[in-house]
Amino acid sequence: MSGSPLWYKNAVFYQVYVRAFCDSNRDGHGDFPGLTSKLDYFAELGVDCLWIMPMYPSPLNDDGYDIADYYDIHPDYGTLDDFKTFLHEAHRRGLRVITDLVLNHTSDQHPWFQQARKSKDNPYRDYYVWSDSDQKYQGVRIIFLDVEKSNWSFDETTGQYYWHRFYASQPDLNYDNPAVREEMKNVVRFWLDLGVDGFRADAVPYLFEREGTSCENLPETHAYLKELRALIDHRYPGRVLLCEANMWPEDVRAYFGEGDEFHMGFHFPIMPRIFMAIKKGDAADMIDILNRTPEIPETCQWVTFLRNHDELTLEMVTEEERQWMWEQYAPEPRMRLNLGIRRRLAPLLDNDRRKIELANSLLFTLPGSPILYYGDEIGMGDNIWLPDRNGVRTPMQWDDGPAAGFSTAPPDRLYAPIIDSPAYNPARVNVAAARSDPASLFHTIRRMIAARKQHNVFGWGAFSWADCDTTAVAAFWREHEGARLLSLNNLRDETQTITVKLPLPSRAPKTLLGQAEQLSRTGNHLRVRLAPLQFIWLLF
Ligand code: BGC
Repeated sequence: MSGSPLWYKNAVFYQVYVRAFCDSNRDGHGDFPGLTSKLDYFAELGVDCLWIMPMYPSPLNDDGYDIADYYDIHPDYGTLDDFKTFLHEAHRRGLRVITDLVLNHTSDQHPWFQQARKSKDNPYRDYYVWSDSDQKYQGVRIIFLDVEKSNWSFDETTGQYYWHRFYASQPDLNYDNPAVREEMKNVVRFWLDLGVDGFRADAVPYLFEREGTSCENLPETHAYLKELRALIDHRYPGRVLLCEANMWPEDVRAYFGEGDEFHMGFHFPIMPRIFMAIKKGDAADMIDILNRTPEIPETCQWVTFLRNHDELTLEMVTEEERQWMWEQYAPEPRMRLNLGIRRRLAPLLDNDRRKIELANSLLFTLPGSPILYYGDEIGMGDNIWLPDRNGVRTPMQWDDGPAAGFSTAPPDRLYAPIIDSPAYNPARVNVAAARSDPASLFHTIRRMIAARKQHNVFGWGAFSWADCDTTAVAAFWREHEGARLLSLNNLRDETQTITVKLPLPSRAPKTLLGQAEQLSRTGNHLRVRLAPLQFIWLLF
C-alpha cells in the first residue's frame, strides 16, 4: 500500500455491492465473510481501493442509502466484527477501503426520525426539516421523478410536512441544527477510528436549504464540508473524501475548495459524453465538456466512471441530448428510469468487445482516477425487468455453476435472480472463464490497471487535446515530469488514418497498450492507422 497521503491521485477504484458479491452463509445475500474470501480477486485485478456501498442497518427502501443506524452493519451482511476482519484482511493485501457516507438524509426508521415525528416538541424534532406548508422552497427539482411528486411529505401525527430530496422514506437532516452537524462528525470519526480509508460522500449538494435558491451547492453546505475535511486533515491524514455531486464541472469545482474541501470528485458530465462519442463516432462532445472543465488544485483529483449502481444519469446533458441518448441507448421504455438509463456497460455497448475496450481506454486515460463497477470487468449483463435500479445489481458471476458461484443457496432464495439472458448468463459470462482466457476483457482491464500503476502520468499528467486532423479519433496528451502519454481512440467503426502533430523534441514512442495497423513518423508528424474502434496508448 503506497504510504503517500496523495495515493488517490493514481489509484484505481472498484465499486462493490456487498449483497451481490459472495454469499458465505447460504442465505442468498452476499456478506462480509464472503467478500473477504474474494479479496485475492482484487489483488489479481490490481485495483487499489474498494468503495463499499452502504452496509448499515436499513429497511432497504433505497438499498441501504436509507440508513437506520450509522454505527452497525446490516444483519444480511454479517456483524461489525466481520467488517473489521474484512478491513484488516484488505489492508493486509495492500487494498484500501472507502465506504459510503450518507450525510443528507436518514431512513424514516432511524430512531432520530421515529422520535422526531412523535411530537412537535420532541428533542429530535429539529433534527429534520419541517414546515406547516408544502409551498416552501418552491421550484427545487425532484430527483426521483418517477416516484415522488414533491420534496415534501405530510406527517399525519404532527400535522406538518417534512423535507426529503429523495424517497419520502428518506427524510433530510436539518444541518442548521448544530447537534446534527456534530452527530455526523461522530459518524465520520467512528469509521475512521475503525480504520476505513475514507468516504464516498453521498448526495452532498443538498445539505442546507434556503428560500429563493435551488437548495443545492449552498455556501453553508460548503462550509460544513470544509469542517469535515479539517477534521480529517487534523486527525486522519491520508484518508480521503470523494464527492458525489451530480453537477456541471464549474459547480463541482467548488467542492474542491482551495484544496481544503474534497480530495476527489466524480466528473459526472464526461460520462454520458463518452457514450455519445462512441455512438456518434465523434469526440466533439467530450472536447466541449473537458474544455469547460476548470483546473483543480494539484492535490485534488477527478474520478471517472462508465457505470455505477444507479441509472446512467442524463442530468448533465441538454434536453435534446437526453432524448437522443434515450433513443440510442434505451430504445425500450423499460430501459429508462428517472432521467437516465438502467443498463449495464456491456449491453449498452452491444456486447461489442471493441466498444467496451474503447470505453475503458477513455476511462483509463482521461484525467482522473477511474472507478470500475463490479461485474463490468467481465462484461456482465443486466435485467431491466427488475424494479428500480436492481437490474444492474444482480449477483456477481464467478463460475458457470447453479448460482454462478455466488452462493450455494437454492437459486430461488437468492436476493435477486442471476442474469439468464442468452448472451450474459453464467455459462457465457463468468470470472473463472475470463481468468483462464488470456484474451478476455478481464485480462485487458487488468493490463490497463497495470499500465497505470507503472506510470504516474496517468494520475498526475496534465491534459491537452492533441493536434490531430479529425475528431473521429479522440486524441489527447497526458504529460508529467518529462513523460508524455498519447491516447488515441478510434471512435468509428471504420479504419482511420490520422496525422498527429508531435511537440519537439519527441522520443520514439513505445506502445503501452492497444495497437495500430501502421505507425510512422516524419519529423514532427506521426501518422497512425487505426482499425475500427481500435485504441492505442503511446508513451514518449
Ligand atoms: C446514490 C443513490 C441513492 C441516492 C440517495 C445517490 O446519489 O448514488 O443510489 O439512491 O444518493 O441516497
